[in-house]
Amino acid sequence: MNIMVIGGGGREHAIVHKLSQSPKADKIYALPGNGGIAAEAQCVPISATDIDGIVEFAKSHDIDFAVVAPDDPLVLGAVDALNAIGIKCFGPDAKAAIIEGSKVFSKNLMKKYNIPTALYEVFDNPSDAVAYIEKGSFPVVIKADGLALGKGVIIAQDFAEAKDAVSMIMEDKVFGKSGNNIVVEEFLTGPEVSVLCFTDGKTVVPMVSSMDHKRIGDGDTGLNTGGMGTIAPNPCYTDAVAEECMRTIFLPTIEAMNAEGRTFKGCLYFGLMLTPKGPKVIEYNCRFGDPETQVVLPLLESDLLDIMIATADGTLADAEVNFSSGAAACVVVASDGYPKAYDKGIEITEKPLGADCFVYHAGTALKDGKLVTSGGRVAGVTATAPTLAEALAKAYAATESFEFANKYMRKDIGQKALAILKG
Ligand code: AMP
Ligand code: GLY
Repeated sequence: MNIMVIGGGGREHAIVHKLSQSPKADKIYALPGNGGIAAEAQCVPISATDIDGIVEFAKSHDIDFAVVAPDDPLVLGAVDALNAIGIKCFGPDAKAAIIEGSKVFSKNLMKKYNIPTALYEVFDNPSDAVAYIEKGSFPVVIKADGLALGKGVIIAQDFAEAKDAVSMIMEDKVFGKSGNNIVVEEFLTGPEVSVLCFTDGKTVVPMVSSMDHKRIGDGDTGLNTGGMGTIAPNPCYTDAVAEECMRTIFLPTIEAMNAEGRTFKGCLYFGLMLTPKGPKVIEYNCRFGDPETQVVLPLLESDLLDIMIATADGTLADAEVNFSSGAAACVVVASDGYPKAYDKGIEITEKPLGADCFVYHAGTALKDGKLVTSGGRVAGVTATAPTLAEALAKAYAATESFEFANKYMRKDIGQKALAILKG
């Protein structure tokens, strides 16, 4: 089969790497891909949001199957456009991708179908929002309705911060149209768990759970980032919690989307908080998480291409989806300065890696045949092992095989999970 993967980050590298292990995969194209993906797929310089360009490429390259990985092309209707020319896709259509594309939609969906989530109100103008916030308690959570590169959530500690956040989103329009409406939400507490699920709209198959580390600094301090590291499985996600989530969150969400005429097919990402009152949904994503995918897919023992095709065909119930009982850890190596300003174009030197280690490239490019940095998060250095402690030790050791000037990484990825495991 000729396969096309849309996107060019660490998540897409993990998807391409896994797909390339399928006996059914012949040629794999990545649009646009990156410096690391280029070793496993043919990279094509077409942007992930250039829907017309993607469709034209698919038509002229005999594509049998497409995987649309990032949120923006999904929300923009890449799957609809490819389906319209007869190309089978892994990923939701635009009607279903709205579950991530609009927080107002997803919050109203949860309220209508009694899916546990934080209490909230929606506002379309700043003065009503501020008047409501003034009467409430703090911290309070303020979310831009639309996509905002993962930066649209502000946790305001007091009224002044909340007022600034409302003004920044609704008046200064720092996230553009995404800030036309906002959600003001109750602040929840508890451990966070990411659960990615395959679903064809009938069957839901959760993947191994994971834990992201979103802040830039050790001890969860400093600015929010796209994710500085992940571990899987997440020790907070016990069998009992998994059973409760399936019953109160996963199945009800799939059924709710069906009832709304928005059947979801693809990977549905549940960002959960395990609150004292039970698991609640913090966010839905209409796609694989990044960098969660970099620890989840290495533990998948079954053929990813078979699962993705079954998801698209509506035969997921018959697919084999097995995960190893081991653990995985991913340490993101970033350019110093990220998530603020940082230098690009810095040369990278790679050394051979130990067994069960892999570097998923995120912000890398090939320039005159040399590998250079091209983004803030440069790569996710990943290892699998029978235990989390071993996986972390191997992943941190492997970061020494991927060097560039101004390399920055958190030193404490997985420490919280290890402490939980030790009780
Ligand atoms: P998001 O961009 O939606 O992933 O949100 C970023 C982070 O904000 C989440 O991972 C949580 O840590 C935090 N967050 C979002 N909503 C809430 C909430 N209602 N209560 C507490 N923390 C939240
Ligand atoms: N790691 C969070 C996300 O992919 O949105």
